[in-house]
Amino acid sequence: MTPLQSRFALGDIHIPAVGFGTYLIADNDAAGVVADAISVGYRHIDTAAGYHNEAGVGGGIADGIARAGLSRDDLFVTTKLWPGNAAWGDPPKGYDETRAAFEASRTALGLDVIDLYLIHAPSGVEKRVEQWQALCDLKAEGVVRAIGVSNYTEAHIEEIRAAGLPLPEANQIELHPWSQKPDLVAFLRAEGILPIAYSSLVPLSTWRAEPGQSSAKTEEMKADSQSAESPFKTMAVRYGVSEAQLLLRWGVQSGYPVLPKSTNVDRMKQNLDLFSFEITRQDMDMMAAMDRGDGVAWATGDPRDIG
Ligand code: A2P
Repeated sequence: MTPLQSRFALGDIHIPAVGFGTYLIADNDAAGVVADAISVGYRHIDTAAGYHNEAGVGGGIADGIARAGLSRDDLFVTTKLWPGNAAWGDPPKGYDETRAAFEASRTALGLDVIDLYLIHAPSGVEKRVEQWQALCDLKAEGVVRAIGVSNYTEAHIEEIRAAGLPLPEANQIELHPWSQKPDLVAFLRAEGILPIAYSSLVPLSTWRAEPGQSSAKTEEMKADSQSAESPFKTMAVRYGVSEAQLLLRWGVQSGYPVLPKSTNVDRMKQNLDLFSFEITRQDMDMMAAMDRGDGVAWATGDPRDIG
C-alpha cells in the first residue's frame, strides 16, 4: 500500500487517507506551502473559510497541480462553512448566507467543484438545519461531491435526522490517542458517517509549540508529551519511526483520514510515510487505554483553537 493509493470510502466517492491541513498557515504563506505539499505527494488539501487562507491555498493548488503535471481530478479539496456564532457577536448564517459563503469559498479557491464541504461547527444553533439544507442543495446541484459537518456531537446529527434531511457523509473531529471519543465514533460508524481526524499530533512535544501557535493544549498535557518516558516516544523507537508517524498511523489504522499540517518539507514527507509499518494489536490496545476525554481544540472556546 502506498500513500497515494491509500484512501477511504466517503459516501459514493473516496478520500485520501492522508491529507494536508492548513490551519494556522497565513494566507501569504499558503500558496508556497500547499504547492510544496502537492509536490511531495499530498492529494487532499483541507482548508476552511475560518482559516482566512483560501485564496493562498487556491493559488498553491493551481501551482502544485501545474508543477506535478496533475489534473484537477487528481486532487481532493475540503473547505468549510463558517456557520457564525452568536456568542462571539457573529450572527449565524441562514440558507442564503450559507450559499453565498460557499460561492465566496469556491471563488477564493479558484475551483468549480469542491470535493467535500463541511459545516465547521455546530455554533449556528437555530440556523443549523437551514445551513444543512443549503449543503444538501449544493450537493444535488453538483458543485460539491460530498457534504459533512465538523465538531458535531450525536445530538447535532440527530437534529438533522429529525428535520428529515439526509445525514452527513463525514464528521471532522479531534481524534488522537488522548481524545478517542469511542461513543461518538461508534455512533458515526453505525450511521455510515466517516470520522475524519484533526489535530492528530496533539500528544507530540512539538505540537504548535512555535510563537503565535497558541492553543488550548493544557500545561499538564504539554509536560506529559515532553517527558522522556512518553509512551509514544518509546513505542515509536521500537517501530523505527517518529512519534508523529506513530500518531498518524494510529489514525489511519483506526480507519480515520488524517490531516497533518507542516510547513517543513521533510516533515511533510515523513507525515505521508505511514504505510511501511503496522502498529500491533497489543500496542493498539495499549493506546486504547490512554483516552483522556474530549480533547483540547474546544477547551477554551477560543476561535483560534478550532482546528
Ligand atoms: P511544523 O509546521 O514546524 O512542522 P496540526 O496538524 O494539529 O495543526 O499540528 C501541526 C503542528 O505539529 C505544527 O506545530 C507542526 O510544526 C508540528 N508537526 C507537524 N509534523 C510534524 C512532525 N513530523 N514532527 C514534529 N512536529 C511536527
